[in-house]
Amino acid sequence: MSDQTTFIKACYGLKHEHTPAWLMRQAGRYQESYRQLKEKVGFWGICTQADLIEQVTVTAALELNADAAIIFSDITLPSWAMGLDLEFCPGPKFSNPVRSTKDIEALELYDPNEKVPFLIEGIKQTRQTLPPDKSLIGFIGAPLTMAAYMVEGKPDRQWRKFKALAYNEPQTLHQLLEKLSSALVLHAKAQIEAGCDCIQLFDTSVSELAPPYLRDFGFDYAQKVISELKKENVPIIYFARNVTPHFGHLKTLGADVLGVDWTTSISQVREAIGDDTTLMGNLDPCMLYCTQDVLKKHVTQILEEAQGLPGYIFNLGHGVLPETPPENVRFVIDTVHELSSPI
Ligand code: CP3
Repeated sequence: MSDQTTFIKACYGLKHEHTPAWLMRQAGRYQESYRQLKEKVGFWGICTQADLIEQVTVTAALELNADAAIIFSDITLPSWAMGLDLEFCPGPKFSNPVRSTKDIEALELYDPNEKVPFLIEGIKQTRQTLPPDKSLIGFIGAPLTMAAYMVEGKPDRQWRKFKALAYNEPQTLHQLLEKLSSALVLHAKAQIEAGCDCIQLFDTSVSELAPPYLRDFGFDYAQKVISELKKENVPIIYFARNVTPHFGHLKTLGADVLGVDWTTSISQVREAIGDDTTLMGNLDPCMLYCTQDVLKKHVTQILEEAQGLPGYIFNLGHGVLPETPPENVRFVIDTVHELSSPI
């Protein structure tokens, strides 16, 4: 474990050497080496082999000189481990989605060491290979986002089946969210035990629901998972999208770090919640298609908004997109390091 890295210090808002930077989806389709490997063994083939998890995770972090690596996996792995048939085409697709109490009862609360040993071994190997000044981030989907995929069966613009269940049968959804919360805590704890220095919760779909369902089904369950994970003494990042009006409430969830997408600004969130929660974000991933002059201008602006406060981590507002020029990805991280001075 490397608990004194620049990244970990920033998570806790402590003084550090430079602004840490990493990018969601920093390992992926924009990289030639990743595309070649995926051509050979497929996405699931990478996710289920410890050596390949290690290779892909470490390669991305070193190529970019990022301050943190995120373990290569997918948020849907726990759904598969609980008993759903999973295929990627290229998004996740479950042939037996969860629609009833009976389906929920059939979901298994698994031991990650037995059910996903490739992930556990992949984390151990990655932590050994990764230089000690780089932190290793493990992750889970937050309960609401996981439930949306498991009920719908695949990504969907309107989430019709999921929302119908949420609004028609709230008790059934609560039953699923309860079970998922327990499974996700076990999945995250096993990642920490294997060597992850931090856990990120991805709640990408939470903002789809109308208030007050957003709190009852979304934020309350995320809070429950976060409070269990806080017992493990690693920093917790909570990342949601399109939640600008909710940052005041998000601050109360107990996460050390809140992710910010590009639909708001770092200074706006700071104004809303004060200085004592670390923020992470928030360059629009499409900026990486622009010229390096434009990129530098926007990175500079975001760093200015972060006001040199220690509680800030540079990232995109969501993942790196396919077909992003790889040299721009490295350029962004280099620019953050170049422009930031000791805090
Ligand atoms: O570098 C990293 O960020 C770590 C790896 C990672 C993946 N998925 C690999 C992946 C992480 C953190 C995720 C999280 C994830 N997976 C989320 C939450 C964040 C987000 O992006 O919204 C969600 C909703 C999923 C589910 C998922 N997996 C979708 C919707 C898709 C298809 C769409 C897409 O973006 O490609 C996937 C496939 C997936 N997961 C890929 C990767 C690299 C693409 C597979 C490929 O190479 O074709």
